[in-house]
Amino acid sequence: MLREDALEGKTILVTGGGTGLGKAMTKYFLELGANAIIASRKLEVLEKTAKELSEATGKEVLPLACDVRNHLDVDKTIQAGIEKFGKIDILVNNAAGNFISPTERLSPKAFDTIIGIVLQGTYNFTLGLGKNWIEKKTGGTILNIVTTYSWTGSGYVVPSAAAKAGVLAMTRSLAVEWAKYGIRSNAIAPGPFPTKGAWDRLFPENLRKKFDVKNKVPVGRVGEHQELANLAAYLVSDFSAYVNGEVITIDGGEWLKGAGEFNHLELIPNEMWDTIEQMVRGANKK
Ligand code: HXC
Ligand code: NAP
Repeated sequence: MLREDALEGKTILVTGGGTGLGKAMTKYFLELGANAIIASRKLEVLEKTAKELSEATGKEVLPLACDVRNHLDVDKTIQAGIEKFGKIDILVNNAAGNFISPTERLSPKAFDTIIGIVLQGTYNFTLGLGKNWIEKKTGGTILNIVTTYSWTGSGYVVPSAAAKAGVLAMTRSLAVEWAKYGIRSNAIAPGPFPTKGAWDRLFPENLRKKFDVKNKVPVGRVGEHQELANLAAYLVSDFSAYVNGEVITIDGGEWLKGAGEFNHLELIPNEMWDTIEQMVRGANKK
């Protein structure tokens, strides 16, 4: 989507960059000229992705093992990235943990785990890099990956909803507070984009047939990874320099379909509307 050198000279740190959407975004950032650091728990997965992506794009990818919940790990990751590339310009907080469950079945540890990965992980990296950018007066760019239920909430994924809402609040708060340091903060709220990580935990096989996620999306399909990568690349690039504190939804209209009181009327066949209209008009005469 962007011109080929749009991210030339930039170093981008993507948490959870070894798999799924993080991997897709990283690939496109590299194609646009950036170098990348990918960080998550599983070093073997990261190393495989790093090799694959640098072979495909000719750019450098540094894989670093890091549990985003642990601020010492996070600080070490940032230091190692700076040692390798001299600086980190852009942070993409993409790592997440999630699974479906009735809330009353959750232990406090289950809440801690999800909130730890999503919210604590995001503030650990944001603080670590933010302080560095402020001290060095370089400015920087933050992109947080949230979800559409960050503002609607959602049953059955309550720890994730609470944590993502926190991340969204942080995005908007820091957009104002840190603008004076040249730091921008934005977020993307994706709708359904099939990935193994999300699908295994949110749409297990036996539920997939019962609830076809495509039916919830007005455009009638799920998202393609490149579509998300296009938006992410724009938001981290200097082309979006005036976009700050925004959350951009990319969901084919899914959440609005769920929100509209009468959207379910699409289930009514066209031929029934004559009868319905007569009945409704009839009410005016009574
Ligand atoms: C109830 C569960 C559970 C389940 C785990 N727990 N799974 N409770 N139902 N299905 C409980 C455990 O019993 C334990 O509590 C606590 O949660 C921590 O579990 P661990 O397995 O010890 O945690 P850990 O090894 O750190 O693994 C983290 C994880 C796992 C989040 C549970 O799923 C993971 O690694 N996820 C990473 C990838 C991921 O989730 N990707 C999807 C993102 S999709 P106790 O008390 O028993 O010790 C997304 C988008 C959503 O966010 C929007 C889609 C449209
Ligand atoms: P995914 O492939 O499972 O990605 C999650 C990543 O987070 C993994 O690479 C995982 O790597 C990493 N991670 C988990 N716990 C971690 C920890 N403690 N420390 C460091 N890294 C950790 O799922 P995805 O679908 O691509 O999700 C990517 C982002 O998109 C998430 O923020 C998710 O909430 C968001 N999202 C996805 C969808 C969708 O439909 N797919 C919709 C809305 C929002 P390790 O296992 O190696 O740690």
